[in-house]
Formats: sequence, structure tokens, C-alpha cells
Amino acid sequence: MFLTTSDLRKGYGQGAARSEVLKGVSLSLDAGQLGVILGPSGSGKSTLMNIIGGVDRADSGQVEVDGLALAELGDAALANYRRDKLGFVFQFYNLIPNLTAAENVEVAAHIASDPLGVGEALAAVGLDGRERSFPKELSGGEQQRVAIARAIVKRPKLLLCDEPTGALDFETSRGVLELLQSVNQEYGATVLMITHNTAIGGLGDAVFRLRDGQIVETLHNAERMPAERIEW
Ligand SMILES: Nc1ncnc2c1ncn2[C@@H]1O[C@H](COP(=O)(O)OP(=O)(O)OP(=O)(O)O)[C@@H](O)[C@H]1O
Ligand SMILES: [Mg+2]
Repeated sequence: MFLTTSDLRKGYGQGAARSEVLKGVSLSLDAGQLGVILGPSGSGKSTLMNIIGGVDRADSGQVEVDGLALAELGDAALANYRRDKLGFVFQFYNLIPNLTAAENVEVAAHIASDPLGVGEALAAVGLDGRERSFPKELSGGEQQRVAIARAIVKRPKLLLCDEPTGALDFETSRGVLELLQSVNQEYGATVLMITHNTAIGGLGDAVFRLRDGQIVETLHNAERMPAERIEW
């Protein structure tokens, strides 16, 4: 398995104010698979993804990615893990507003050991010609595509996407899903995507349903639904 979490637990707060957000989450994905985490608001999806992404640490349990046990890594090694193995796409893009599209992608390429070209990454998301545009000059879908270019320019082994279509309309969402599907198939990145949209589950090899901090169902799709056929 390329990615495994075993009995992950995470809570916030102390004493009576303590709440358990992840209550023993176990999931796994093979290299090259596309996984979907499906669950309602507040179920712990982002908390789980942030732990897998080495942005946050679990209270107990294990995360293993590509042979690395994250709990055993110190802060510097965890930073290297994020730099070397991960691309991260956020719900609200998180682009740097005073940098152009190309410069936003360049920032990520700069820290990677074997990046794609910035132009190649922007072309892969269909944004050739928009290199010099600033985020405020781009539509939401275009900004999300820049964010995906920024994530894939590093050639990450693992691409984590937290509600990548959460702020987009249907047609634009489908374009973003097609793009993530092609990153998975053409660049071979293992992709783990969060959504609360059940229709998107069909896209994945594996679908993990999270409810109140627990995986209540794991589905394996014998055949993935192509993004261009997804409807909602
Ligand atoms: N840093 C934090 N401190 C305290 N509570 C937190 C923190 N981060 C998350 N929580 C709580 O953990 C629960 C799960 O949050 P999380 O962001 O993981 O949910 P989610 O499934 O991603 O929801 P959404 O679909 O709305 O993004 C929520 O009740 C949230 O308030
Ligand atoms: Mg969330």
C-alpha cells in the first residue's frame, strides 16, 4: 500500500471542552489510485487530510506514506516530506495575490527537486497564455487550475485535494475533476480528494465515507466513472 492510516485519533480542547474529531480512522490506497473521502460538514475530513499531509499531527495511530511513518518524523523531516512528496490543493485556492499565475507556480517549482516546467504545468491545466495574469484577473475555476498547476509542478507522488470544486459551479467543477483525473492517469500521482458531493464518489477507485470522525463505509469501484460523465 502506498498510503495507510491506522486507527488515527485526534481531538481538540481540554477537559469538558474536549471534542474527539477523529475516532480511529483506518484507510488505505495503492500507488496510482484515486481515493475520495466523502462526508458531511464537520465530519473530520480536513482534519484527516491535514494529518495525512503532515500539516497537523494525530494524537495516536499511524500514517504511512510511501514507506514513511509520519509520526516518527521530526518537524524538519515532516517539512521535507511535504516538500518532496506532496501537492496540496485547497478549497479556496490560496494563491498569493500579488504574484502572477506563473509566479505562483514558480514558487512551488523552486523548492522541488525535479519539477515540471512552469509553462508545462500551466499548459497541463489549460492556462497557456494566462501566465502573466494575477489571481484577481482570473475566474474562480481558472484560479483553481492555477492552484492545481502549483500542486502538480512538483511532480508529487501524492496529490491531496480538500474540496477542490467546493467553490465552483457544475461545469467548472467537472473541468477541474477531469483535470485531477488526468493528473492521476498521466502523471501517475496517487490522488486523495475530499468532497461532500456523493456524485463525485464514482470518480474514485476507493470511496471512504466519513461520519462523525469514523469511516462508516469503504467502497471499491470496479470501474471508475469518467469525470466527463459525472452529473449532479
Ligand atoms: N484547530 C481546531 N481547534 C478546534 N476544533 C477544531 C479545529 N479544527 C477542526 N476542529 C473541529 O473539528 C471538527 C471537524 O472539522 P473539519 O474541518 O475536519 O471538518 P470537515 O469535515 O472538513 O468539514 P467541512 O466539510 O465543513 O470542511 C469540527 O467540529 C471543527 O470545529
Ligand atoms: Mg473541511
